[in-house]
Amino acid sequence: MISGKTARDTGRRRRAEDRGIEFSLSRDGQPIYLQICARFKAAIAQGHLRPGDRVPSVRSLASELGLSRGTATLAYQLLAEEGYFEFRGAAGTFVDFRHAQRAEKRSKNPAPPAEDRSGSPSNDLRPLRLGLPALDAFPRKTWNRLVGRHSRRMDAGDLAYPDSSGHGPLRERIAAYLGVSRGIVCSPDQVFITSGHRATLNLILRTLSRPDDIFWFEEPGYLIVREFLLSNGARLQPVAVDRDGLDVAAGVESAPHAKFAIVTPANQSPLGVMMSLERRQQLLRWAGAGERWIIEDDYDSEYRYNRRPPASLKSLDADERVLYTGSFSKVLYPGLRLSYLVVPSHEMGRFSQSSRLIDAGGPILHQAVIADFMQQGHFARHLKKMRGLYAQRRQMFADALHHVFGDRLDIISPAAGLHIVARPIGYSASDVAIAAQAQKMDLGLQALSPWHMGADPASGLLLGFTNVADAGEALKLASMMRDACGAAST
Ligand SMILES: Cc1ncc(COP(=O)(O)O)c(C=O)c1O
Repeated sequence: MISGKTARDTGRRRRAEDRGIEFSLSRDGQPIYLQICARFKAAIAQGHLRPGDRVPSVRSLASELGLSRGTATLAYQLLAEEGYFEFRGAAGTFVDFRHAQRAEKRSKNPAPPAEDRSGSPSNDLRPLRLGLPALDAFPRKTWNRLVGRHSRRMDAGDLAYPDSSGHGPLRERIAAYLGVSRGIVCSPDQVFITSGHRATLNLILRTLSRPDDIFWFEEPGYLIVREFLLSNGARLQPVAVDRDGLDVAAGVESAPHAKFAIVTPANQSPLGVMMSLERRQQLLRWAGAGERWIIEDDYDSEYRYNRRPPASLKSLDADERVLYTGSFSKVLYPGLRLSYLVVPSHEMGRFSQSSRLIDAGGPILHQAVIADFMQQGHFARHLKKMRGLYAQRRQMFADALHHVFGDRLDIISPAAGLHIVARPIGYSASDVAIAAQAQKMDLGLQALSPWHMGADPASGLLLGFTNVADAGEALKLASMMRDACGAAST
């Protein structure tokens, strides 16, 4: 039953298909066809093969493993008899839905996704998860049409190494968009495309920072950036945020020798406060007085619901001390992993050089698609639509919270951004305990206090409302939250 070829190949590890199923066949002991059965069963149990997946044909498995076709056929017949495989004639052989689903359920034990300290895995889709745009409202059809067109049109240039600073047409569209919407005068050469906000910060650190540089960091401030900077050896000085934004005088007092201030002036993360004009001017004066840099994180300034978005800090930057960062994560979708940085014209050379050193640039397909999406007016239309949708969903969820909690919950964030900050009143449990209880109930909300570095954190709950689709769901989620507050406090 084992061909001569099999005997030669005995013991070698071989990949059956590109699904990560590996066969390690041994000549000793169990017959080969049973070993094949066992490998397929294990692949199904571990979730590498799922119900409905097509498996290699008998002929290609036999050739891949150097077996006779008879051996492979025998294994497949046995797997079909036991209900693991289904033969569908010319369409091929598939993992059977019924049996495999049961087997998968019984023995699948997936590793939990990596969690950040906020208790929220990065691929979390649970209700009230922070920071996601409305995934049901993304214009997939238009987007996919543009993706299809670009894929079909691919020419030699698209196959070569890209520009490490980003795709030229997208840098042009970003510069034009920022000029009109954010009052930023810049050339496309000043725009650097990156694979996310941390990649943007990495580029800044590599270009301008030295170990032990001190950063003013908003208190409370964006948890992920805090951990990123600390892991890169930066020294962070927490600087309080009040109703006017970062308290610049407090920063000067506590860390006069800081080299960077990293701020979210349009929509403070996570409190939603807008930095006042006076504070902006103070901050710019501080930076202009020395070799200091302001990193303006303008991640979702587009979303302010009862007034026009504020001008960017960069638009007031006469001394060219502001490094402006933006992202497509909130205005399109975060799975894109595309963000950008605008650098002062006198720093373009240094940034180009370090972007070349860091890597050879990102894939251009989606960059080209975004450029067209912007140029053809879809981007502006999408933003306008989302502003209306989020204003409505925010109101709906706030109404549901009022209805369910009455005066036992205070909404403390303004009508902006993609989440609400709310403070439960009269519950004995901490925000961390409430969030942990809510997460057990499959809600994705987060506690506010871990976003502080200092000893006396404010308490609250961060509630992403953008995917709450209707009033019924809003009421259901608000009731679950009330149950979580109650259960955590008993
Ligand atoms: C404060 C803040 N800055 C920037 C970003 C954008 O990060 P990225 O572009 O890596 O998705 C986010 C996303 O949640 C954010 O909350």
